[in-house]
Amino acid sequence: MAEAPSTNTTLRLSGKIAIVTGGASGIGEATARVFANEGARVVVIADIQDEMGNQVAKSIGNQRCIYIHCDVTNEDQVQNLIQSTVNSYGQVDIMFSNAGIISPTNQTVMELDMSQLDRLFDVNVRGMALCVKHAARAMVEGRVRGTIVLTGSVGGSVGSIRSTDYTMSKHAVLGLMRAASVQLATHGIRVNSVSPSGLATPLTCELLGMSKENAQENYRKYSRLEGVVLTPKRVADAVLFLVSNEAEFITGLDLRVDGGFSKI
Ligand SMILES: NC(=O)c1ccc[n+]([C@@H]2O[C@H](COP(=O)([O-])OP(=O)(O)OC[C@H]3O[C@@H](n4cnc5c(N)ncnc54)[C@H](O)[C@@H]3O)[C@@H](O)[C@H]2O)c1
Repeated sequence: MAEAPSTNTTLRLSGKIAIVTGGASGIGEATARVFANEGARVVVIADIQDEMGNQVAKSIGNQRCIYIHCDVTNEDQVQNLIQSTVNSYGQVDIMFSNAGIISPTNQTVMELDMSQLDRLFDVNVRGMALCVKHAARAMVEGRVRGTIVLTGSVGGSVGSIRSTDYTMSKHAVLGLMRAASVQLATHGIRVNSVSPSGLATPLTCELLGMSKENAQENYRKYSRLEGVVLTPKRVADAVLFLVSNEAEFITGLDLRVDGGFSKI
């Protein structure tokens, strides 16, 4: 049975209106759940997987979570996402720009497929930029001291032996986060990113052709931290910190959630 919207002010996101892109699956889904559990008044899940997105919203409870179809590469759809949220709930307090993809080939720079690269940049870079652009406009127009978090990756700050296009795109995400954090600070809007190391989600399980358990085992070797595995919930908890008042003086930070990943 779905719970009614919380009015408990001890919860960290009490009364907040949040948008989660890529919220139908993986890290986005886990974060939508954490936001709702922390008292967000409404969590808007924006994704292109309509059935899964609607199911997640229903399981959280349609009084406090709704699904909106939004392809983040399409500016009209991103504008509609933001505008309909403002029209329905008054404002946008939190934008978690998280939707992202990985190319089907795990290429070196000499093997780059430019049509795959264009598609990947469309989602991972252009899509993130559109979400930041329109969320920021709504926050500034509504005089909301909101907060924006982008999903980067450990691949956004180090070189990689493969997945060249993905590494490039996540470096661009950090550039977007840093530029936006400087520009929006005068409006009291905080912009940060969360950068996980590899973890088992539908994205990576499909890429690796592995079950969740096998993918987790595969990624375990990249972490120095023993006794703990990176899960979508652990990334979601880091996002929660960044959007909460506990991080009220933190902007322009790339928060790595990587168990001390540094072996590659
Ligand atoms: N899984 C990992 O190992 C890992 C590591 C570091 C960073 N990330 C990043 O985390 C983010 C989430 O990935 P995940 O692992 O949870 O994958 P996922 O595939 O489980 O979730 C991604 C979601 O984004 C949605 N999406 C894709 N294209 C979209 C579009 N054009 N418009 C709207 N939604 C779209 C998908 O439908 C999906 O629901 C991505 O940005 C990814 O690059 C993942």
